[in-house]
Parts: sequence; C-alpha cells; structure tokens
Amino acid sequence: MTTSNSISAAPDSLGHAAFDMLRQLSAISESDAFLCRRYLTPEHARANALVGQWMRDAGLEVSVDPLGNLIGRTHGGNTNVPTLSLGSHLDTVRDAGRYDGALGVLLPIACLNACRDAGVKLPFNVEIIGFGDEEGVRFGSTLIGSKGMAGNLDASVLDVNDVDGTSLGEALEAFGLPKANALRAKRLPEDVSAFLEVHIEQGPVLESENLAVGVVTAIAGASRYAIEVAGLAGHAGTVPMSLRQDALTGAAEMVLAAETLANEHDDLVATAGKLEVANGAVNVIPGSVTFTIDVRSGVDQIREEAIEALRSKFEDIATRRGIQAGWSKLHENSAATCDAALSEQLANAISATGRPVRHLPSGAGHDAMAMAELAPAAMLFVRCEGGISHHPDEDMTVEDAQAAGEVLWTFLQTFDVQSLNADGAN
Ligand code: GLV
Ligand code: MN
Ligand code: MN
Repeated sequence: MTTSNSISAAPDSLGHAAFDMLRQLSAISESDAFLCRRYLTPEHARANALVGQWMRDAGLEVSVDPLGNLIGRTHGGNTNVPTLSLGSHLDTVRDAGRYDGALGVLLPIACLNACRDAGVKLPFNVEIIGFGDEEGVRFGSTLIGSKGMAGNLDASVLDVNDVDGTSLGEALEAFGLPKANALRAKRLPEDVSAFLEVHIEQGPVLESENLAVGVVTAIAGASRYAIEVAGLAGHAGTVPMSLRQDALTGAAEMVLAAETLANEHDDLVATAGKLEVANGAVNVIPGSVTFTIDVRSGVDQIREEAIEALRSKFEDIATRRGIQAGWSKLHENSAATCDAALSEQLANAISATGRPVRHLPSGAGHDAMAMAELAPAAMLFVRCEGGISHHPDEDMTVEDAQAAGEVLWTFLQTFDVQSLNADGAN
C-alpha cells in the first residue's frame, strides 16, 4: 500500500483481525441451524457483551444507550471537536450471512486497536456504534437504533408488537432498559462531527469491475407495508370457482401486479417477502392472507407514485374478486444523499491507498440513511462474493477486509472536520 509521508502505514493484520471477530460473532444466533440475531433478544445481549469486550480490549469506554445500541468511545482526543462516529448494525435477518452490518462494527474496532498498538494518536475522539436494530425483523419498523439516535423515532413505535405479542416497550424493559427512557437515545448534532459506515455492497457492481471498495453516493428510499387480504373461507370441494372469494389467489394477483409495475421502471424495485395464509389447510379456500411489500427507489417521487399506483391496482383486483385489501404501514424512509465533502475525504483515502475510486448508489437500506439526519454521513462499500446477501452464502475475502481496513486507517488519520464545516455540510 502507498500512503503520504505523514500517515503511518496500515498494519497488514486488519483484515484477519476483523475476520476473527466476524467468525466468533456469527456463533451467537437464536438457532443452531442458521444465523438469526434479532433486536433485544438474549442473543443481542450476548453480542453486545462480546463486542463490548473487544471494544474494551481496544481501549474504548463502553456503554449501551437507552435503545440497546452498543457504543465504544476513545478518550483523550480534543474535546472541542465533536466525536467522529463509525458503525453499523449487530442485528441480522433470519438465515443471514455474517458480514451484513457486523463488518462495519468490527473492522473499526480492529483499526482502533491497531492505532493503539502502533501509537497512532488521533486528535479527536472516535466512537464505534453497534446499532441494535437495522433490519426490522422483530418489529417490522426498521432502523430503530439509528433513527432513535438521530432523534427521529416516533414514540408510537414503542407499542408495536412482535410476532409473539411483545411490544417494543416491553422488550426494552426485558432487556433492562426503561421504556420511559427510549427517546433519550437522541443525540445532538453538535456532539457528532460525521458518521462513516463500512458495509458490504450486497450487490454485484464492485465484483464485476474487479474493485475491492467503493464510495456510496446515495441510499435508496423505502416504503414497507403489510397488506391484509380478507376473502371468505370455504370448502375446497363444494364452492364453485365462480362463487369464490379466495384471499390467496387475490393476494397472488396483487403480488404479480407489484412485480409488473416495478418491471416498468428503471429505478424501482418491489418485493413481497412474506406471505401468511391464516388457518391454511389443503381442503380450505383461503379466507385471510397477509403479505408484505417493500418498494424502493433512489428517487422519492418514483417510490411515492408507485405506492399510489399499487393502492389503485390492489383496489381494482379486490373489487373484481369480491375481497378487501387493508394496508398498514411498517416503515418509510426517504432516499438519503451521502455528504459530498465527507465522501470526498473517503475517496481521497481510497486514492491514498493506491486504489481507483468508484462511486455507486446503494439499493439496500443502511444506518447511514438515518444518521444522515444528524451529521454528515458517508459509506464505504466493500466487495462481496456474487453480490449475495441476506443469505447464508454471503461471503467476502479477508483481502478485501484488509483493503477496507487500510482505507479506514487512512481516513482516520486524514479526517478533517474543518473542511466539512467550511462546506456547511450536514
Ligand atoms: C436492510 O438490509 C435492507 O433491507 O435494506
Ligand atoms: Mn446491513
Ligand atoms: Mn441487511
């Protein structure tokens, strides 16, 4: 690797150090058969304890905020300069890979640990955040950790239930966190100078161009709804086809309508990721079906118009079939643009390590989109194998973790809070 004279060379242990922690963390799962670590579960507590110990070993002061976000802070930097925040999430989807989220917590720990070993002193304080909920698997409402920190969590989310009927407020209490304090996770803009998230790309672009890392330009916005389709249950043998009010075939037509609409636009994707037939049985016409849709676009207007179009299409399908479709919003986030000045510093760090700079958008949601409301935010994408993610085959190389570690190492030593303020970025 090549760097300017004032920057000490990155140790070549960063990738291996991160990989060792990634492997150990992936053993903490709700199931022995697959990786699943949902928000505010005992496995979340075990992950916070293990990662918190690694943070302490790296010399950080460790705390858990009122929403269960794990925070490790350096001390001894200039306290007149707001803290630089690094981080990503520690929760996972069901049957997950080990890199989504965790890489962005553990690689910064490896870097700060190496800084300490090498006697590199940063002139500002740094914190590493392991957000408790980004995936939204347990409560449907996603980015609870980072939205809470940015001060954009609606108190009504505390009453949302998981599949077992436990509300978020009750789950916080069971985790040892008073429900009444939940909104106190909010941070002030003057306390955070910038937020940087390292994350696997979860797509195939970097791999197809033979690049280890890239700089994210913007993160697509998302809308998620649960659609409850109400028909009429009946006997599978006796009710003629023409007299049926089958909720499942109605839902199937709606799912296909969403796919057709998304196929008609370049910057639009729509996914029905979950479908449940209430009291489903082989000889019963389905009377009640609930499915989810997740609609995303880099352009908010395209996403909003798509939702309106789907409302009207689903209504037409329901009317024609004599059934009803009820919509409940699970989550909504506008598209977020990464901060230009901070992204330029990140791009310069990539160049300083002798690598080409590739800018690319993110179709996946990230904690950075919530944190962008609090502070200038940027993201470093790291190549993953085949673009596969949200799947146990999710994979990346230790060499790419090392490449990202070298970029982060350089970024930390060249980070210039003044240039952010000079651009008035936030
Ligand atoms: C988060 O992983 C998302 O669904 O984009
Ligand atoms: Mn993620
Ligand atoms: Mn994810």
